[in-house]
Amino acid sequence: MKWAVLVGGTGSNLEAILSSGLDVRLVISHRAQVRALGVAAQHGVPTRVIVGRDYPDRADYDASLRGQLEEFDIERVAMAGFLRWLQPETIRVYQGQILNLHPSLLPAYPGLHAIEQAFEARVWWTGVTVHFVDEGHDTGPIVAQAPVPRMADDTLETLSDRIHRTEHALYPKVLHAVDRGAVWLQDHVVTYAKEDDAWIHGHF
Ligand code: GRF
Repeated sequence: MKWAVLVGGTGSNLEAILSSGLDVRLVISHRAQVRALGVAAQHGVPTRVIVGRDYPDRADYDASLRGQLEEFDIERVAMAGFLRWLQPETIRVYQGQILNLHPSLLPAYPGLHAIEQAFEARVWWTGVTVHFVDEGHDTGPIVAQAPVPRMADDTLETLSDRIHRTEHALYPKVLHAVDRGAVWLQDHVVTYAKEDDAWIHGHF
């Protein structure tokens, strides 16, 4: 399967994904001059930058994004730090083929600054979620989650580091499982090839 990764920031998850050997054919960023673009270049993956202010509205932006995905024959999309909501037409065209990574245990702390929100709430447990993307905001069907403890002496930085390390371990595993057809979305429900709690929890 040919994957695209959508980015917009430091690209640490992109780095983990590329190192895992997933067949990534294209990296698209919504911002220029971000570290993620350098990570893609180091791995020899083509990049495109599509900036919101160059398009009159969101539908036009997404049409351009889909144009790039089509040009590279992309079949599946992994979002990793891409801070734009995909539009309904994009979600329809790539139904069940787009995944997102979120730095909290959804449905807790959707949207921006999830780590800060959990830290300020002084929760003892937060974590990481991988989900299929639907038309809502961080609401799509959940594929996998990993808990992360907040330690008594954590700062926002130490908690963030622990969450990012968990992301780097979890996301590539989930993407590879989707890639080989061990997990898929069927009628809006996440379906696992092996309906076995031990397998699902052990696997992810
Ligand atoms: C990650 O924390 C991810 O959960 C969120 O954006 C961040 C991207 O970080 N959606 P990076 O660019 O992969 O380092």
